[in-house]
Amino acid sequence: GTRLIIDTDPGVDDAFAIALAALSEDVDLLGVTTVFGNVPLAATTRNAQRVLALCGRSDVPVAAGAERPLVHPHPHRAHYAHGVDGLSGRSQVLPEPERELERADAVELLVSLLNAADEPVTIAPIGPLTNIAALLAAHPGVREKIDRVVIMGGALGHGNTTAAAEFNIWSDPEAARRVLTGGEVSCVLVPMDLTYRCAVDAEWLAKLNGSGPIGTALYALTPDYREHYNRALGWDGIVMHDAVAVAEAIKPGILRTERFPIDVDCTHGPSRGATLVDRRRAELRDDTEATDEVADVRVGTDTDLDGLRGFVLD
Ligand code: BDR
Ligand code: CA
Repeated sequence: GTRLIIDTDPGVDDAFAIALAALSEDVDLLGVTTVFGNVPLAATTRNAQRVLALCGRSDVPVAAGAERPLVHPHPHRAHYAHGVDGLSGRSQVLPEPERELERADAVELLVSLLNAADEPVTIAPIGPLTNIAALLAAHPGVREKIDRVVIMGGALGHGNTTAAAEFNIWSDPEAARRVLTGGEVSCVLVPMDLTYRCAVDAEWLAKLNGSGPIGTALYALTPDYREHYNRALGWDGIVMHDAVAVAEAIKPGILRTERFPIDVDCTHGPSRGATLVDRRRAELRDDTEATDEVADVRVGTDTDLDGLRGFVLD
């Protein structure tokens, strides 16, 4: 099965994504690393530990990473979507963490897990890319141990945090640029355009709620997040962004992906954090090898929407 490390900022949809990996057969979840993002690092870390405890996965080590972006001095927050504690104010419905946080920080845990792995590992970053950029900068040798980096982030059209930028990329554009254009690792970028199309409705959420104790607890984390999407979209349901990326990480090919040249706007103008996915040149979109000109980045562009929703629910 897929060897996987999730780097995360829970976050309601992160909680779904962690549970998806933690409960899937044939996935070897080696570790979870945390990053600032939706809420501050202490809260994202605690939330990740609680979700693993809910899933009975206290065998999975958790290490805390960056508290702020690589360059920009201040972290951004998304309490407006994820509630006071990052889980709609409901993190107390989850069990207390059973396993102590690692003494190692996120980068140290990533290095030791990658070095110990006998086969290449998939990393699924579903928050700001700060930890992954720091890993690649400080430990270039580990890239040989990385199979793919499957990222939730970016936007082909408009953003969700600014007109141009999606939250994870906007949170640390310099880190995102380092990972996506450094040419060191194969990346799959799962942008918000696709994750929005995979949104789940009230009926899906009711099925989750009725699926057993874990589903009921995950459902209990959704009210503030659901209310956010109600206000934003005038529609009752949620967008489970991060679970779409983790679905691709654990079931390669569940998303249709295409290779495109990509860059990230790191200027301080109105497009800061935009992902510039160059869809002009058809010849760069096929399965030809990455070149010096084009880093190996594939972008998720389509999927069987109901198939994806059913896979996550199962
Ligand atoms: C991304 O931003 C966060 O709020 C979500 O957890 C997801 O990773 C969506 O833009
Ligand atoms: Ca996230």
